[in-house]
Amino acid sequence: MAHMRLISLCALLLIAAMTLHSAPQTPAGGTSRIDRLIAQMTLPEKLSMLHGARDPENLGQAGYLPGVPRLGIPPMRLTDGPAGVRTGKPATALPAPVALASTFSPALAEQYGQTIGRDGAALRQDVILAPMVNIVRVPQGGRNFETLGEDPFLASRIVAAEIKGIQSQGLIATVKHFAENNQENARQQVSADVDERTMHEIELQGFEAAVKAGVGSVMASYNKVNGTWASENTELQTKILRDQWGFTGFVMSDWGATHSGVPALTSGLELEMPSGANYSALGDAVASGALKEEIVDRAVRRILGQMDRMGWLDPARPARVAATIPATSPVARDIAIAGAVLLKNRDHVLPLAADDLAHLAVIGPTAKALLVGGGGSARVPPMHLGNVVDELRRRRANASIAYAVGYDLDGDLVPATALSIGSDDKVIDFTGANALAPGATRTWTGTITGPVTGNYELHLHSAGGRGSIVLDTAAPGAGRGGRGGGGAGLLPTALGLGNSTTMVHLDAGVPHPITVTATASAGTPMQIRLAWIPPGWQDAKIQEAVAAARAARTAVVFAYDEGQEGRDRASISLPGPQDALIAAIAAANPRTVVVLNNGAPIQMPWADRVAGILQMWYPGQEGADATATLLVGDASPGGKLPVTFPRQIDDAPTNVPERYPGVNGHGTYSEGIFVGYRWYDQHAIEPLFPFGHGLSYTDFTYSNLSAAKSGDGYDVRFTIKNTGARRGSDVPQVYVGPSDPAPAPMAARALAGFERLDLDAGQSRTVTIHLDMRAFSYWSVATHAWTVAGGTRTLYLGSSSRDIRLQTPLRIPSGE
Ligand code: BGC
Repeated sequence: MAHMRLISLCALLLIAAMTLHSAPQTPAGGTSRIDRLIAQMTLPEKLSMLHGARDPENLGQAGYLPGVPRLGIPPMRLTDGPAGVRTGKPATALPAPVALASTFSPALAEQYGQTIGRDGAALRQDVILAPMVNIVRVPQGGRNFETLGEDPFLASRIVAAEIKGIQSQGLIATVKHFAENNQENARQQVSADVDERTMHEIELQGFEAAVKAGVGSVMASYNKVNGTWASENTELQTKILRDQWGFTGFVMSDWGATHSGVPALTSGLELEMPSGANYSALGDAVASGALKEEIVDRAVRRILGQMDRMGWLDPARPARVAATIPATSPVARDIAIAGAVLLKNRDHVLPLAADDLAHLAVIGPTAKALLVGGGGSARVPPMHLGNVVDELRRRRANASIAYAVGYDLDGDLVPATALSIGSDDKVIDFTGANALAPGATRTWTGTITGPVTGNYELHLHSAGGRGSIVLDTAAPGAGRGGRGGGGAGLLPTALGLGNSTTMVHLDAGVPHPITVTATASAGTPMQIRLAWIPPGWQDAKIQEAVAAARAARTAVVFAYDEGQEGRDRASISLPGPQDALIAAIAAANPRTVVVLNNGAPIQMPWADRVAGILQMWYPGQEGADATATLLVGDASPGGKLPVTFPRQIDDAPTNVPERYPGVNGHGTYSEGIFVGYRWYDQHAIEPLFPFGHGLSYTDFTYSNLSAAKSGDGYDVRFTIKNTGARRGSDVPQVYVGPSDPAPAPMAARALAGFERLDLDAGQSRTVTIHLDMRAFSYWSVATHAWTVAGGTRTLYLGSSSRDIRLQTPLRIPSGE
């Protein structure tokens, strides 16, 4: 039986592999052209295809391969991903991928991908380093905003559609980071120790879906998996990726993630990025006989295969010319709106009515400075900005809006009375016409003196060069820290400058040594200012905001966090005094609405005290328009949470050092398959907001749930009706319960199907969702294969993973 299954599985894989490989080939291409090319290549030419190099044209992207011009193999440019195309030039800054996942819409994911592909082509790029599909396992994860949530089924549906979208524009997509890159702290050292079943059921399904969708390349992650670097992991890169899934594309390393040459190449890592740190020595290995040239050829063939598939080896390929990217993006706007999650809406406080807009207080820095996206390699300079306050005024000309910052990130210029910097300059304030000349360097050395004793935030605002604040580290209390860890935060100042923060303790009237440096870039004038936030300043800002809220009918408070590549958040609390600010506003005005610009779960100690909570994520370049549109009710939010929001970090599955951040270099995935909502359900922990949760300005009911065998699985049918008074969208979700008895521990409910629907007021629709047998299967460690768990399984239909409205039993024959 097992043998038969294996044979049919192999046949299936073969067919899948053939379809994958043959379908996208250009008619004139194919293996023979590639073989002919390889036969003509010298060994150095072959090796130049296997590692990155410097781009002589320097288009600003992350990676470059020179190609072999004499044989018509063009250069290949690789660019980040995943929230738009990052070359340093403005491009469409899309909402963060977590917002895309919140849409629960493969159709929008395809458009997201098309936009990235279109922009990539316009910027003369070839390979997009996106999407990222690592599962959100750790709520504090720094890159949670960049990925597609905690559920493998949702992530699979979104990733596949996005890849189709990117590749439809003639560029190669790269699914990353393969695999188990689920935390940023220690990402370059940690070994993710994860059992076979958990790996297949949780992390790997998204990657498998990417391969099935025809992704051209895969990026190996920084971390180790079960003790072996991902970039030299034969189990992952050959056995699973190629032998099990039939992948025919190429694998590249994450940037600097290789630790060897021959072992990495042999294990299935074709391309070392961004340079040949290890792979430039492969020639010696071939010469000494330590590496067979066939292995080199195999890798070159895999890369050329994808280039050929895209038509890039075609002599008739038209030259790439830089094209213009449209200034605004309806797709970015649609996704920001569709991905917005209405977490709470007591007494229909939203949308804002004419009365609210006639006396509205808007509070918080991100209402005035749009937080477009998270930090790190996903950060894209937007085509344009805008802010919510202006957008509200544009949409409702009669609105009377009082704005108060509430939490000030800019501070005030350090006054001449506080600064003694031994030059003609009394203050450091070189902006606009006073900017430093291109190429100039300046150093100010002297002292700073505070009028009162306490901790001061020093802020260096700058653009067009590099600046630093150097404090005498021997002096008491001096040091770096604060928001952004001393680096620039994600929000620009009111003048549009970068803003980096350094903390210093000053004793009243006691001069403290300080040096400020500025180095202007070659071609640009440099703007630089030294500002500070003295003790008591933020409290005064809170009081101003409270006064504005008290005078208003309704208060809308914006709060944010800064998700960053390279480090996890220290906690899931909002940074700075934001919790205190929100609590104070809520105490002053019962009609308080919180708008969140964050990329990952946060705890909300004030959740019960506010009337409404609108989760906007990092909403991309059209975020101001999208947010205002939703607040005034010109559209209704319909997104659903792709991650659980716990009440507190102690509730999370990873709140044990062995699991996260790991002990002695090992992160043990002993929670097993109980990741995300599966954990909270298993341990009966009430989350703050569950996976799949999201309200609307209208209401929906579900009825007539049934399920019947159909084709390779089962069809689930039900009726959904919009019972409210306005158009809106909803995402009914189908979950599958465990089999009884279960052959292995199973989730109380696992997402198996969903559909996003837009319905007019009063409209109803009958929906059919097809579940294939994977929905009823678990990964068997005995057969190393997906196996149906038969018996009576319960199907749940819900508006979230916890708001289950209907259920029906379903008898599944074993071994189907
Ligand atoms: C990130 C990747 C990114 C690469 C190139 C790495 O640090 O982990 O996601 O694609 O840099 O910028």
